Amino acid sequence: MENHFTDRMARDRALIEDYLARAFAREVRHADLQEAMEYSLLAGGKRIRPILTLETCRLCGGEAEAALPFACAVEMIHTYSLIHDDLPAMDNDDLRRGRPTSHIVYGEATAILAGDALLTAAFGQLTRASLPADRIVAAVECLSHAAGSVGMVGGQALDMAGEGRGLDRGELELLQSLKTGALISAAAELGCIAAGGTQEQRTQVWAYAQALGRAFQVRDDMLDVTSSQEELGKPVGSDQVNEKTTFVTVLGLEGCAALVDQLTRQGVEALSGFDAPDFHIWLAQSLAQRTK
Ligand code: IPE
Ligand code: IPE
Ligand code: MG
Ligand code: MG
Ligand code: MG
Repeated sequence: MENHFTDRMARDRALIEDYLARAFAREVRHADLQEAMEYSLLAGGKRIRPILTLETCRLCGGEAEAALPFACAVEMIHTYSLIHDDLPAMDNDDLRRGRPTSHIVYGEATAILAGDALLTAAFGQLTRASLPADRIVAAVECLSHAAGSVGMVGGQALDMAGEGRGLDRGELELLQSLKTGALISAAAELGCIAAGGTQEQRTQVWAYAQALGRAFQVRDDMLDVTSSQEELGKPVGSDQVNEKTTFVTVLGLEGCAALVDQLTRQGVEALSGFDAPDFHIWLAQSLAQRTK
């Protein structure tokens, strides 16, 4: 079973890589902008969010290929968020996806612009889906909500405002569910939207992905303490240097492990209305154990 799901994920990833590799290939190139966009976008991240979009489209009865433009839009927004997250004004990190960060290679101005352009391109991608117009409109609404000031960017604002200040658990939960949970939830919802799923299905996949996203960020906080730069492809110890409150500072490593398990169970339970959510169950369980 394990191999079956790993192979299926590899096939999803291949579709995503192929689509992303072609996304800007035919654009007129301006200075080093497109090169910088592709440098970060094609650097081999885990692609968890777009995989979730394709698989949730399948889960809700659609063809995964139809959801590819939505999936890749989410990955573009995620990649832009990482480029900006690493800037000196934010987490000031010099390695990402195993490569020197965008601002180290291209300078801060180009890194900011590459992020801006990926964010903008994401919404163009949504319009490229060969799907009924009402689904595309729903996708724009969903992604703009999740990525913006009441979603990911709002969470990043709380994250920056919290530096050097001890946050309580409730504040940290809100911060993480926005900065990480919102986009992961949108990834799942976009799959349901692409499939033409019901509101009930959308609510269930949202609840699953909220829990998954929260577990994902708690695990990220743990790996910042327990892993290595070689394994993660990004610096470790960054949270401590930046005086962030994380789940490790609030609960300790054992408490984090218990919370990841609890959130994973919660996510799995949220899918009880589906006949065969086996891939999603496997994904949640394998992300709970992830080492990178
Ligand atoms: C990193 O996301 C930022 C967080 C929200 C924790 P990923 O761990 O998904 O990074 P990539 O896409 O694999 O590089
Ligand atoms: C970032 O959280 C979440 C984003 C929205 C980019 P982190 O700052 O913990 O992510 P990493 O550890 O740098 O990948
Ligand atoms: Mg950060
Ligand atoms: Mg960071
Ligand atoms: Mg982190």
